[in-house]
Amino acid sequence: MSWAPPPIAAARLPALLAAAPKAELHIHIEGSLEPEMIFALAARHGIALPYADVQALRRAYAFGNLQQFLDLYYQGADVLRDEEDFYQLGRAYLARAATENIVHAEIFFDPQTHTARGVPMGAVMRGLRRASDDGRRELGIGSALILCFLRHLSEREAFETLEAALPWRDDFIGVGLDSSELGHPPEKFARVFARCRELGLHVVAHAGEEGPPEYIWQALDILKAERIDHGVQAVHDAALMRRLAQRRIPLTVCPLSNQKLQVFPDLAHHSLPQLLAAGLCATVNSDDPAYFGGYVNANFQAVFAATGLDSAAAYQLAANSFEASFADAALKRRWMDRLQAAFERAHDAGS
Ligand code: ADE
Ligand code: ZN
Repeated sequence: MSWAPPPIAAARLPALLAAAPKAELHIHIEGSLEPEMIFALAARHGIALPYADVQALRRAYAFGNLQQFLDLYYQGADVLRDEEDFYQLGRAYLARAATENIVHAEIFFDPQTHTARGVPMGAVMRGLRRASDDGRRELGIGSALILCFLRHLSEREAFETLEAALPWRDDFIGVGLDSSELGHPPEKFARVFARCRELGLHVVAHAGEEGPPEYIWQALDILKAERIDHGVQAVHDAALMRRLAQRRIPLTVCPLSNQKLQVFPDLAHHSLPQLLAAGLCATVNSDDPAYFGGYVNANFQAVFAATGLDSAAAYQLAANSFEASFADAALKRRWMDRLQAAFERAHDAGS
């Protein structure tokens, strides 16, 4: 018989959510670039910023939709110029994640955002790779990289990016698709994703964040995505919900991102409880924590407080994060043991 989590009182949930081991599967490393680091790197490189100080920059983080956010996100990324910058960025994220009991992170990066500005692919790859190695050795947090193609650019440019990244083929485990969703359906990238699959890369794609359920179908049927990033619009298509549940296709859900980008009127109306109730393998992630007001634990705390999800959902979401990861089965079993121990400790502390 499978292990059933003991019920934990609502008052103990915030501490349990923080203490439980979990994996993060939807984090854009450029979206973890905090305003303080933007100013520090701008000073290092002699870059003039159009904001007086950190507070003024933070005040600009008010978004009506995805595109308004992306405009500032690409502007912020302009301070990332050399290998050391990418190392610092990756290392800072992993240090923060380790404090939140994240045991494993699958990290997106957007090489085109950097190579288009003249930053060598090698600077991006070496900096992030070194951060990942140091995170494992010094912090005990595992991580892997997923290269994302920018969907507002052409498929030809995606092919060129893939080619430029191949000398570092062993340093990333998969590819994804991000940036402006509406008007850029997954089918636009059918050929480059087919090539990535031939290369043995894992395949994920942002779909159904702002875009329609049809984009999720395309990500599954055309790109053969193994996970859907966001996917929260699936609730509008009953057949799609059944497909996602039956095949256990994970959704990497990002509640604070959805709130800040006005995907839902407020967090109380977030579709996460509906996704879980329908038996989907939903997970909780931070997306772009420096821009959306919180890392993984803040996402858990906010969506649980707003929707009234209980400790059974907390267990399911953490277990889903391990199931949905691309880690090997032995590691997943070890994480599940640690998760169950965390629930037993929380139960014992409350009895
Ligand atoms: N790039 C960084 N964050 C993103 C998001 N939430 N959606 C699409 N592209 C992104
Ligand atoms: Zn994202």
